[in-house]
Amino acid sequence: MFELKDIKDSLDKFVIDPLMVVDAEKNICVVNEALRYLVGYKEGELVGKKAEVIFADSEKSILRKSNVEKLIGTGTILNIETYYQAKDGREVPVLFSSSVIHDQNDKDALIVCTARDISERKRVEEELRAAYEQIKEAQDQLVQAEKLNAIGLLASGVAHEVKNPLGIIIQGINYLQAKFPDSEVDVNSTFSMMMESAKRANGIVNTLLDFSKAKKLELKLEDINAILEGALELVKANIKFEKININIDKNKNIPHIFVDKNRLEQVFVNLIMNAIQAMPKGGKIFIRSYDKNLPESKQGIYGRNDYFKAGERVLVVEITDTGEGIPPAAFKKLFNPFFTTKGLHGGSGIGLYVSRNIIDMHKGLIEIKSTEGKGTKVIIFLRAS
Ligand SMILES: Nc1ncnc2c1ncn2[C@@H]1O[C@H](COP(=O)(O)OP(=O)(O)O)[C@@H](O)[C@H]1O
Ligand SMILES: [Mg+2]
Repeated sequence: MFELKDIKDSLDKFVIDPLMVVDAEKNICVVNEALRYLVGYKEGELVGKKAEVIFADSEKSILRKSNVEKLIGTGTILNIETYYQAKDGREVPVLFSSSVIHDQNDKDALIVCTARDISERKRVEEELRAAYEQIKEAQDQLVQAEKLNAIGLLASGVAHEVKNPLGIIIQGINYLQAKFPDSEVDVNSTFSMMMESAKRANGIVNTLLDFSKAKKLELKLEDINAILEGALELVKANIKFEKININIDKNKNIPHIFVDKNRLEQVFVNLIMNAIQAMPKGGKIFIRSYDKNLPESKQGIYGRNDYFKAGERVLVVEITDTGEGIPPAAFKKLFNPFFTTKGLHGGSGIGLYVSRNIIDMHKGLIEIKSTEGKGTKVIIFLRAS
């Protein structure tokens, strides 16, 4: 038989790794100081207990509290990652090994279990993984921003090319309509359809050209509230909508700021139109303007800008609707050029793309929050100083 008393002192002195000896019934017979230190038990507290007490029941390892009894002692285990559970509940990651030794008669068996503390390695691994995720995310954002820029360039290039032929088509339709004023009904309605489509295409082309970044902003000291009013008037003049209640809450004390009035008006029109279109059965739109000191720094869409630091004074415009909201799957694509959920005859999908670019040119930010089925809030931050 082994004389466990005799080896105990040696284990404390010479074995640096946490170690325990377990008998064939999986009762702990000997524990060295390194193990007691690792799991926070006092001398004598572990001896006599079942080996499983110091294993965590962690899903992360195949060797866990619930199957320790079955697994150890069946053969040699070499360097399995598992978790010990300290007395205070902490889970300590360890590299576990065990081997069985038999006495001369091959009757009684003892199992020697060692466990190397790998918390430090795990921590470094975790840090590396997080850093990798961060780099990957940043890279994705860069690629996305590049892609959008490239598409923007391409789109405005194409728009340039398309603009002249479209002009000729519109002139041609005008000419034909004037030349054959008394045509049959179906000819007239064909003319009208052609005209409507050509004008729609022309509108998209103009919008694309209009915001192309080469074109400089015309910055003047402006009253954002007046621009909001102007946008609302434009929307009301151009489209009919019923059952939609628009509530505008302008803070009169907000400072005048340097912006391009026409471009900003275009943004507000886009956003109000989107809000209206999100409420085919009617609903409410709240428009609000105010200024405040930002409690936290704000990062732009796709992480492209980091324009606002905590504490900066900003002017905020919020446009909130009680419409259908935006499904999570669409959320990442909202600002992509030509992304639309409104079908062929509805949207062009450039409203938000153009708006984002215009706000971007003002070194501002645009943020969208939405709950599907409840509504959407678009928030614009502009520099107030
Ligand atoms: N207020 C809103 N409520 C719900 N969905 C919205 C809202 N604003 C934008 N969206 C979604 O974003 C898409 C893109 O908007 P936008 O770029 O203005 O293009 P368009 O309005 O031509 O579709 C819309 O098709 C719609 O799915
Ligand atoms: Mg739109």
